[in-house]
Amino acid sequence: MARNAWFETVAEAQRRAKKRLPSSVYGALVAGSERGLTIDDNMGAFAELQFAPHVAGHKAERDLSTTVMGIPISFPVIISPTGVQAVHPEGEVAVSRAANNRGTIMGLSSFASKPVEEVTAANPNTFFQMYWSGTRDAMVQRMERARAAGAKGLISTLDWSFSNGRDWGSPQIPEKVNLKAIWDLAPNVLPHPKWLWTFAKTGRIPDLTAPNLTPPGGEAPTFFGAYYEWMQTPPPTWEDIAWLREAWGGPFMLKGVTRLDDARRAVDAGVTAISVSNHGGNNLDSTPATIRMLSSVAHEVGDEIEVVLDGGIRRGSDVAKALALGARAVMIGRAYLWGLAANGQAGVENVLDILRGGLDSAILGLGHSSIHELSPNDFYIPPTFQRTLGANPPARTASEASEATGESAPAATTLPPVPERRARVAPKATAAAS
Ligand SMILES: Cc1cc2nc3c(=O)[nH]c(=O)nc-3n(C[C@H](O)[C@H](O)[C@H](O)COP(=O)(O)O)c2cc1C
Repeated sequence: MARNAWFETVAEAQRRAKKRLPSSVYGALVAGSERGLTIDDNMGAFAELQFAPHVAGHKAERDLSTTVMGIPISFPVIISPTGVQAVHPEGEVAVSRAANNRGTIMGLSSFASKPVEEVTAANPNTFFQMYWSGTRDAMVQRMERARAAGAKGLISTLDWSFSNGRDWGSPQIPEKVNLKAIWDLAPNVLPHPKWLWTFAKTGRIPDLTAPNLTPPGGEAPTFFGAYYEWMQTPPPTWEDIAWLREAWGGPFMLKGVTRLDDARRAVDAGVTAISVSNHGGNNLDSTPATIRMLSSVAHEVGDEIEVVLDGGIRRGSDVAKALALGARAVMIGRAYLWGLAANGQAGVENVLDILRGGLDSAILGLGHSSIHELSPNDFYIPPTFQRTLGANPPARTASEASEATGESAPAATTLPPVPERRARVAPKATAAAS
């Protein structure tokens, strides 16, 4: 009997992706860096936040809808940009269709495998993502192409320091998929006939190019060619970011902010939104989990710009936790990549349904009728949970503060003091049950 293609958790989608994909492709999605501390903390930290559910007074109707950078979405989960190279022949177009069918936004990476025009045709609510790479003229040309294709927002991703090396080994990825590469990869690829078949049916092989970085009249660079250009580009200043924001002129998200001082500078640069992100644990290893840093950043700038979070979201309950600590919405990366690998577009829809269902259960159990009612009081938050980076003066954790004063640590996370006008999340993130 054919196995049911539907899966009930993101963990099951990941198991299926691991089985289906050649190990080099699977390894490229696992990604991470060095010891993998950040990638583990991104997921593990969510487990430290514990629900404080009600038993009666639940609401029969619950509203999960919101907006991100002016775009209405049916629930607060959007697609984070990833280069979906070689996972599935329909790549980002399948992801975009799935996001459209579930009423949410597609984030398209400039390193993606599909042209922006095809992706916006599948979902009119698409944000185009760029790194600070190439000349200003090249950046303008790329964003103008995205604008002409109908992209409604620009995501500028800055949290990348070209660290490489993983203790568990990095996947071998060829520069070009030519006959020699196919021969070399055969032992890795042949044991995965289902994956091969999805490509064989289309008559195409993964080409590992970045079509959205094609210069006018030129050829699409290879993924590594594009990466090389990025490495050679002098890193941006805050003035460069303000220039980029102005050159785009529309809704603009800065992705990768973790520190309060950077969040403040992002506000000064005129951004519409920031994503509290550590690139899914792929950048500087031992950066804290994003959920640990969210609350302080949201306190700092959350009433001036939109704050979203990405990193470690695998369940609807994770979404509820992020919203409770000040996120307007979350972005997902690996979760949809596992779904795409497991079952194409339907797999991505499956993942989005899992997250929506889990979020709805959380809202129900907490006795709310809307996601906007979520607050830190819905959870027990351990005293050492919070991380505040880039505060002036530096913030201390609750246990450091108690060591200094000789008093015992409070039963709640100590958040940095914030001016009243900025407080969007109750400053005393507390143990709800206490
Ligand atoms: C395989 C892979 C490729 C990625 N490529 C990009 C990219 O091209 N641009 C970008 O801004 N972020 C990229 N990211 C980071 C994601 O947008 C997102 O920040 C991260 O995956 C969130 O963590 P999660 O995977 O735990 O959900 C990538 C992440 C992964 C895992």
